[in-house]
Amino acid sequence: MTGPLILGIETSCDETGVAVVAGNEILSTVLASQIDAHARFGGVVPEVAARAHVEAIRPMVHLALRQAGVHSDQLDAVAATRGPGLVGALMVGFSFGKALAWTLGAPFVGVDHMEGHLFAPRLEHSEFEPPAIVLLASGGHSQVVHVRGWGDYEVLGATIDDAAGEAFDKIARFMGLGFPGGPAIDRAAEGGDPAITRFPRALRDRPYDFSFSGLKTSVVTYLEKAKAGNAVPPLPDVAAAVQEAIVDVLVEKTFNAVEATGVDRVAGGGGVLANRRLRQRLEEEAAARGVALHLPSPALCTDNGAMIAAAGEFRLERGDVTAWGLDVSSSLRLGS
Ligand code: KG4
Ligand code: ZN
Repeated sequence: MTGPLILGIETSCDETGVAVVAGNEILSTVLASQIDAHARFGGVVPEVAARAHVEAIRPMVHLALRQAGVHSDQLDAVAATRGPGLVGALMVGFSFGKALAWTLGAPFVGVDHMEGHLFAPRLEHSEFEPPAIVLLASGGHSQVVHVRGWGDYEVLGATIDDAAGEAFDKIARFMGLGFPGGPAIDRAAEGGDPAITRFPRALRDRPYDFSFSGLKTSVVTYLEKAKAGNAVPPLPDVAAAVQEAIVDVLVEKTFNAVEATGVDRVAGGGGVLANRRLRQRLEEEAAARGVALHLPSPALCTDNGAMIAAAGEFRLERGDVTAWGLDVSSSLRLGS
């Protein structure tokens, strides 16, 4: 093992993720997913999420330590997500982590969730170093980030309305594909023909920004028209066309940033990066341009404790230990 032994806790949304990491090596990573609890509501219910984290946090921390073969006394620090996310959900992991660190006499590090996603590629690709262009796409955020150095982030572009994951989730719900929508569309699109229709690609005139709310409207209009004309198209084709529209702009804006900055390294993070078509398109584009690409494996794209531990390790080494009196911040912004 190289580097300090860190316990990472993630509870910003609907996954209780806990991991033990040392020097970017994952010793254990466990996850309690709340998908079943939220599925019947068709989306994440904040109150339900907070309660589920309360139930899961203690057993998950014990499990992560046990699987790593680590006793809590050995931990060099505890890191937990400070924001952005759902306030009630954040408070569970943040307070638990803080209390544990206090009891152990260890430093506590509050981590920006999006910085966690930025560090995820490092867990499997030790050669991943700035400068890099990183595409962050999750349920709450879509950003193209110029990582000039660790801790030195320029957000080049972001969504002006829905995040990419949110678009997947809302469109999937309308199509009756269930929750969460991203994996559902990914599966439904398998074997589908995206050429059945071309949904609009918005904000073509802005190099790095995204807009996905218009896409949702055009999918609704398209399907309602088709139904009215008794010509309902095959679901896999529609799912593939939706996926292609979202993936197209994510890839285009990422490589706009590569071109403008001259950076020769691309990485990704956030749940949407688990999408198989997006991964394939990024790989093709990176190969065509001779640019290095570092994508975390799908389980490290979606929320997890290991990425929080990895970012926590960086912050600890920088001396960015969180004061005991600091609270969660649901609107924390990368780079601020
Ligand atoms: O990063 P994440 O786990 O949580 C947030 O920080 O929001 O991202 C969750 C989002 C959801 O919107 C989910 O639908 C989407 O990531 N997602 C996917 C896939 N897997 C998860 N979107 C497209 N394709 C996937 N395979
Ligand atoms: Zn996330």
